[in-house]
Amino acid sequence: MRTLPLRLANLPVAASNPQGCKAAPRQQASKGSLNINGRAVAVHAEPDMPLLWALRCELGMTGTKFGCGVGICGACTIHLDGAACLACQTTMSCVGYAQKITTIEGVQGAEAQALKAAWIDLDVVQCGYCQSAQLMAACALLKQKPDPTDADIDAAMSNIVCRCGTYPRVRAAIHQAAGKRRLA
Ligand code: FES
Ligand code: FES
Repeated sequence: MRTLPLRLANLPVAASNPQGCKAAPRQQASKGSLNINGRAVAVHAEPDMPLLWALRCELGMTGTKFGCGVGICGACTIHLDGAACLACQTTMSCVGYAQKITTIEGVQGAEAQALKAAWIDLDVVQCGYCQSAQLMAACALLKQKPDPTDADIDAAMSNIVCRCGTYPRVRAAIHQAAGKRRLA
């Protein structure tokens, strides 16, 4: 089975953030509430602090992983308003309460359920380090494309590095979850 292509070799750091924050930066420090996993959460952070730091260090939500910190490995993938987003490339100045932040601790819904079941069924996980990011990216993909092709999966998942090489099982699990959703 073909493995998912990695794009590390041709990703310049400055252009390697296709999923980072797109919002115009706010000028004020982010001292207030964020909407995280459907709850108002108080965060005190400087405006240039990466959201990843706030999640992990300020709030203790360590399910979202730190890998490279520069937008290359994808380990920090979360959802921002339902779309996959790199938390290490999203500063606190980019997010406000109106934006819905979803992490692996709170991701729910039919797609997430189907994916988690497929992940267990196909024994996808090896060391586990990249897997919260894999699930978050897969969930965003299925919400956007309920019946993704291999090419769709490659495009959505290829910037999440798995040192254990679980790519074939990740792809198979996404197809299985999509199939279960079609039958539901
Ligand atoms: S930690 Fe965010 S892309 Fe590597
Ligand atoms: S399962 Fe080990 S890095 Fe992906």
